[in-house]
Amino acid sequence: MRRLVYKLILVIALDLSANPLYLKAIAHSLYKALKERPLNLEDPKAYFARHVFICTNQRVEGHSRGCCLEKGSLKLRNYLKARVKELGLPGLRINTAGCLDRCELGPTMVVYPEGVWYRFASADDLEEILQNHLVANGRVERLMLKPDQKRQEE
Ligand code: FES
Repeated sequence: MRRLVYKLILVIALDLSANPLYLKAIAHSLYKALKERPLNLEDPKAYFARHVFICTNQRVEGHSRGCCLEKGSLKLRNYLKARVKELGLPGLRINTAGCLDRCELGPTMVVYPEGVWYRFASADDLEEILQNHLVANGRVERLMLKPDQKRQEE
């Protein structure tokens, strides 16, 4: 978040002579971002640059919400963890998580500090997330969960 604010401030500073409508849009975005997640400059630097949580929660068979473990999340988590280790990506931590409360969409994972959620079903999905998001800082739109999404079809 702090990096985003610094980038926005830099863009505003560089574009002072640019189109006022563009400047207004940037200022509005900055205001909205700070309102949603207030910036505290006193916060310490993050210990990990990026932290990934993968649900490996298990429920009793037949539970109405299902669980990520029964959909193979532990094996897939192990795959991602091994790949990150193999690539030696600094500042990136892959952690096991309990239920992330989006069970019907699982297996699920969330990437912080961005707060981007993904649903994955295979090692290929995780490899795509690894290469495009965690390495290249992009996104894998086809696997991203919407903030208010409750079911897979949405
Ligand atoms: S069991 Fe994985 S999100 Fe709930």
